[in-house]
Amino acid sequence: MFFLTTAIDYTNGSPHIGHAYEKILADVLTRYRRLRGDEAYFLTGVDQHGQKVQQTAEKEGVDPATFVAEITERFTRLWETLGIEYDGWAATTDERHKSSVQTILSSLKAANQLYKKSHSGHYSVRQEQFLSDRDRNESGEFGPEWGEVVVIEEENWYFKLSEHTDWLKSYLEQTDDAVIPAFRKTELLNALERNPGTDLCISRPKARLHWGIELPFDSDFVTYVWFDALINYVSFAGYQAAPGSELPDFQKLWTANERPIHLIGKDILVPAHGIYWLCMLHAMGFADHEMPRLLVHGWWNIRGEKMSKSLGNIVDPKQLAENFGVNALRYYLMRDIVTGKDADFDPSRLVMLYNTELANELGNLCNRALNMTQRFTAGVLHRGGIPTEDDLALQKSLIETTGDYCRAMDDFNVAAALEAISRHVVHCNGYAERMKPWELNKNPENHARLASVLYHLAESVAHCAVLLAPVLPTAIEGLATQLNLPQLASLHLGDLRWGLIPDSHEIGKPAPVFPRIVTTEKE
Ligand code: ME8
Ligand code: MG
Repeated sequence: MFFLTTAIDYTNGSPHIGHAYEKILADVLTRYRRLRGDEAYFLTGVDQHGQKVQQTAEKEGVDPATFVAEITERFTRLWETLGIEYDGWAATTDERHKSSVQTILSSLKAANQLYKKSHSGHYSVRQEQFLSDRDRNESGEFGPEWGEVVVIEEENWYFKLSEHTDWLKSYLEQTDDAVIPAFRKTELLNALERNPGTDLCISRPKARLHWGIELPFDSDFVTYVWFDALINYVSFAGYQAAPGSELPDFQKLWTANERPIHLIGKDILVPAHGIYWLCMLHAMGFADHEMPRLLVHGWWNIRGEKMSKSLGNIVDPKQLAENFGVNALRYYLMRDIVTGKDADFDPSRLVMLYNTELANELGNLCNRALNMTQRFTAGVLHRGGIPTEDDLALQKSLIETTGDYCRAMDDFNVAAALEAISRHVVHCNGYAERMKPWELNKNPENHARLASVLYHLAESVAHCAVLLAPVLPTAIEGLATQLNLPQLASLHLGDLRWGLIPDSHEIGKPAPVFPRIVTTEKE
């Protein structure tokens, strides 16, 4: 079982392009695993508690429950627009999640992993955390990134995180795929080296924060939002679920033979996922071979700068989908970033990549394969005779492309997989220009050769449609309809071999699938 989760998005504002990227990537990886013929489960959701939500709701004069319900809807509507097909929805205000968090807290307390103590110190309201001297900048101050910093003294509950950090170090050192890509594991190990273990404050006094999950053993407190949110990965996977909860079977999802993958952005590896979560699981009794793998993606920046509310450069995915279409947006967000690294978001590259690789190259190939078959051979495809050298080279290119595609996708590198497809499409267009079906059509003696050339083009379209389906599911349905091969949608990678199109197959009516994006010059 391939069990993939994403970060759950904060519901303190509208979804942005970073949220959309992460969810599309998860959607594509899940669809790819199904294409491989594997069973897959994709869990995503929203992180609805915490100080930030309480504050924003207050500012807007609504109660937090109403506030998060409205923001949550912005997320679910966007996922529907973008064709994100998730199997489980993790919303942290869900009663099943709340009771799971409380059960876990009670067990940890019973196992002597929690204690209460008084603490006085600097507290960042924006980051909802106490600060230590390590958080001061070179001039000895708490920098603007912490927002308002206040001194408070309060009692709280702590998790004995420090009891688990030695284990964490050795687990990370021994487990190659604990964090992907590898350089992020190095970052995590360096952070562990710098910060000698301190325990984690897991509660907030209700006097200061009421919008959270109450501690089951001390009703003056709610649970710290990260402790609450991280538990979504197990609570919505059916961990210790009550019978009849309609949650998945935990044993089936969370397996040792393929450990779950948590897809997260680079900013929430240290300390939340890489330290807190792995130590929490360890304290809960999870063994090393049951630890999730952390797949860490990079960030989309805007002209080299971080996207942020204060810079006013937040990119709205809904607007992009309206302006350029869902296919162009999904394609760009998968095509122009290497998983793990950062990229620069640039709408002119979105238009360029879509127009070049889909509208022109793939569009041209489809047009040649389908329109010419309609015009020259009455819409019927014939497999043709003995392949020529050019035919064999095309078939070889397709085999190489499929291999490169699978290797790249298995490495979570969707961009490289798309590049491989694009290379084959370019090969096919070169082939068409050399074979000149429009010339062959002029002489009835060349008719058999013409049919064979068209078959090679159409067969390539069929294969590319299957390979592109995880990224462009609806466009590909359109292509399958035009090829009159609805069965393409249910093929697995293992079914891909030359001859998907039967001899004397009649195609459907061709129509453009990737209309060019026409932009009016601005800038
Ligand atoms: O961190 N480019 O929520 P969030 C790419 N609720 N990815 C980006 C991005 C960008 N510019 N900006 C944000 C949270 N992300 C917590 C997670 S998990 C138990 C709780 C990614 O809404 C970010 O890295 O701030 C994270 O993976 C996701 O969007 C949600 O961010
Ligand atoms: Mg964030």
